[in-house]
Amino acid sequence: MRKPVIAGNWKLFKTIGESVALVQELTPLVAKNKDIEIIVAPVFTALSRVCDAIEGSNIKLAAQDCYWEEEGAFTGEVAPKLLKDAGCSHVIIGHSERRQYFGETDLTVNKKAKAAIAAGLNVIVCVGESLAERESEQTFSVIETQIQGSLSGLAAEAFTHVVIAYEPVWAIGTGKTASDAQAQEVHGFIRRLIARLYSQSVADAVRILYGGSVKPDNVKGLMAQPDIDGALVGGASLKAESFAAIANF
Ligand code: PGA
Repeated sequence: MRKPVIAGNWKLFKTIGESVALVQELTPLVAKNKDIEIIVAPVFTALSRVCDAIEGSNIKLAAQDCYWEEEGAFTGEVAPKLLKDAGCSHVIIGHSERRQYFGETDLTVNKKAKAAIAAGLNVIVCVGESLAERESEQTFSVIETQIQGSLSGLAAEAFTHVVIAYEPVWAIGTGKTASDAQAQEVHGFIRRLIARLYSQSVADAVRILYGGSVKPDNVKGLMAQPDIDGALVGGASLKAESFAAIANF
């Protein structure tokens, strides 16, 4: 009953021309795939042109971040309503790279998530533990704090616009995927946590994606886990062939 989501996070890669070329190559490869929600997240400058390029296809558009104010003297920021204006249906919030390099905290993630949902966007909220946290057995407490802080104060109805991405930091861009069992363990924990914090029906409906070195050869095992509802893909989303292989798993 939970429609799987495969989302490609292109990070800081690709010009406008390269981004358009990538979705043009991707579109026919995934055109028959109606069972999966397929999303791409190019850099801000390419959003509008990629939006034009995917018109009429089954590919949706996400931004990689947003600000929480609608407008004002906030040099360099982009408001959720401007992302909508550029054609986005989704926005990734709280990616570990933003938490690590740009001072993103659960509080700012929470403000962004609320603002984005209020503006009519769906949010992909990222959480995940570092290697040191995993090794010191803090994984569950870290995830609980991040989920609680990032989603604090959201009404149960707002959850239809929330997708959670569990991305262990040690698995991102390292080639080291969490094992199917390691990922499922945390996904199951997140779903039980959502049931405790909100309700069982919210928990049953929310999609929880895994991210961290997802590739065509490991996606199947991950997707076979009961609480893994999709993938947030970095490196392997930069080539149409490998991203399509993941989306068509
Ligand atoms: P990766 O990135 O697939 O390159 O590990 C995942 C992500 O950061 O979303």
